[in-house]
Amino acid sequence: MSDTLAHISLREGSENEARKSDAERPSDPLSREILRLKHELNAVILAHNYQIPEIQDLADFVGDSLGLARVAAETEAEVIIFCGVHFMAETAKILNPDKTVLLPDLLAGCSLEESCPATQLKAFQEGHPGIYTIAYVNCSADVKALSDVICTSGNAVSIVEAAPPDRELLFVPDENLGAWVMEQTKRPMQLWKGNCYAHVEFTADSILAIRDKHPEAPLVAHPECTKAVRLLADEICSTEKMVTFCKTHPAPAFIIATEAGMLHRLKRECPEKVFIPAPTDNCACNECRYMKLNTLEKLYNCMSKKTPEIRMSKATLERARLPITRMLELSR
Ligand code: 13P
Ligand code: SF4
Repeated sequence: MSDTLAHISLREGSENEARKSDAERPSDPLSREILRLKHELNAVILAHNYQIPEIQDLADFVGDSLGLARVAAETEAEVIIFCGVHFMAETAKILNPDKTVLLPDLLAGCSLEESCPATQLKAFQEGHPGIYTIAYVNCSADVKALSDVICTSGNAVSIVEAAPPDRELLFVPDENLGAWVMEQTKRPMQLWKGNCYAHVEFTADSILAIRDKHPEAPLVAHPECTKAVRLLADEICSTEKMVTFCKTHPAPAFIIATEAGMLHRLKRECPEKVFIPAPTDNCACNECRYMKLNTLEKLYNCMSKKTPEIRMSKATLERARLPITRMLELSR
């Protein structure tokens, strides 16, 4: 295990470095250069499950938003290279205000984040005094700073269950995740009208068509999918829990309704099983255009130039840390 990684306590997700001997280092020169720079910078490379295979394969840790936030909170590396989208890198920076956090492409955003501008949330809160705001981590640091607690798809149910029983609840910004959590917890919430542009492309028709071809394969869907798709699913869970579900379920094949990058992680973790990407209705839209902005070249460039770096005001950093810390404490 590298010195850097030795400092990271890994709870879930995939740890690459521990099983990678020097002989197994990547053969392509760019990946080798990235690993050399990583040691030079005393950096850790974190990658979300939707990143391209080449990035997943050289990252120190690959996981879902919750796993990545936990690792970011505990790393002792001086530099965090975040291969994911902007809000994830911001979360790492909020948890590590004194560290350098780099994101290969600053334009790697998220349609959910875009759907909830902080100014609109503030106006809504002013019109609903006393409302308790639960923000899905897929939102800006400014929205986090206005929230009472953060959740991810991996802990949303338990975070809502832990919300004060006497307060009216607002869930932002994903109406689909929020609706699923309401079904699970029976706790009414006001839902912000946002969604993931990629997950809503899966439809009941597109799922029924693939099910016809693979009737024995359980359907595993992300809670960002619409209710029509969730109703057909055998399991609804975060990307990390998909790995556990498919590992432990006896079925030899699964239909996966989430972003296409997940298939690489699943194949790596369960090489003996078959994973069928759920199709979308009209197009091959199950690739998140934001996640796919990160490439090996951009990763190399951001490490060699130490830019683009995530920066935000001290006030935002401090205010946004409170609801994230609350989430981490509630989901220990
Ligand atoms: P997970 O936390 O389940 O990985 O989801 C993140 C995300 O952006 C889903 O679209
Ligand atoms: Fe955002 Fe959807 Fe991309 Fe996830 S898949 S980062 S929710 S746009």
